[in-house]
Amino acid sequence: MTAVPPLAASAHPEALLKSLLAYAVLAPSSHNSQPWRFIVDGPTIAVCADRVRALPVVDPFDRELIISCGAALLNLRVALDHAGLAHTISTFPSEVDPDLLALVRVCDDGYSDASLGALFDAIPERVTTRAPFESTAVPDTLQRELIAAGAAEGVEVACVDAIAHRARVAELVAEADRQQFADPRFRRELASWIDPRRHVDGMPAFAAGVPTLLDFAAPVVTMAVRTFDLGNGLAALHHQLVGASPLIVCLSTVRDDRDAWLAAGQALERVLLVAARAGHTASYLNQPIETAGLRAHLRHMLGLRGEPQLLLRVGRGPHTPHSPRRPLDEVVS
Ligand SMILES: Cc1cc2nc3c(=O)[nH]c(=O)nc-3n(C[C@H](O)[C@H](O)[C@H](O)COP(=O)(O)O)c2cc1C
Repeated sequence: MTAVPPLAASAHPEALLKSLLAYAVLAPSSHNSQPWRFIVDGPTIAVCADRVRALPVVDPFDRELIISCGAALLNLRVALDHAGLAHTISTFPSEVDPDLLALVRVCDDGYSDASLGALFDAIPERVTTRAPFESTAVPDTLQRELIAAGAAEGVEVACVDAIAHRARVAELVAEADRQQFADPRFRRELASWIDPRRHVDGMPAFAAGVPTLLDFAAPVVTMAVRTFDLGNGLAALHHQLVGASPLIVCLSTVRDDRDAWLAAGQALERVLLVAARAGHTASYLNQPIETAGLRAHLRHMLGLRGEPQLLLRVGRGPHTPHSPRRPLDEVVS
């Protein structure tokens, strides 16, 4: 992963804002596609979607792309609050440019939130951990904090720890795995993001969790994902992982549009940072949400009022290396 430079406290304001963006890009993103761009202009940062990095098979409406950018926006807010920089944010401010997701403007009479700034140290700590978690229960106090973190962003967080409920979610994830892997287009897209020729984006094979299934060298893993329907094997693996994870967390929103997706991304990262600060980690089980038909099933199963946007398992896990990041000067101008 790129080394994070220290905050340049006395630097020129634009240089300071650029140094804060080193924290924004540590956000999670679908397939580690890092589908964002930032334009710094005086005291203003434009947060933009980079749709060249879209995933048209698994994410045909750019829902997860905007969620990923929302997670980066939350990190930027945390970094600004940590640096004591009050700011205002307008989301989707342009009628003509749908890629302009948010304009963040640093100004003395802007908004500041010390509770967000307090999450700063958790930004480099947070990683996606696909290995099995300890079975130790996630404390009720932390579950309440996760719910509050989502609510602060207007997103509902449902915590599922009862074993019977987790088992039903596990069944649904396994079914979604089978359906996704049956589609050669899905396999080809996934394989292209775990290609070992990628060094600054995509998922290293260790991160994709594939070697747990296939005792192969990395280039062969990519080939295997592309060529073979691994659905049943992954379904069994995910079924086991979900059942053994102490807590399943689902984030949902009342609406299902770009505003809701940007909010869901900010809620996701806020939840993950709160969990990381408490020594917990997470990984994703979005398959039922990405699969036509199963999303409604999940909503019904969990009794949600809104549309599910993200499904996670949360617990204590082993230390996991960071996935790579694109150099900052590729994403900031
Ligand atoms: C919207 C979204 C969807 C994701 N979906 C999955 C997923 O289905 N499976 C998975 O293993 N990781 C998923 N991830 C995690 C990314 O692969 C991960 O964030 C990325 O590889 C960067 O690694 P890091 O989180 O450790 O920094 C998702 C992340 C986001 C933001």
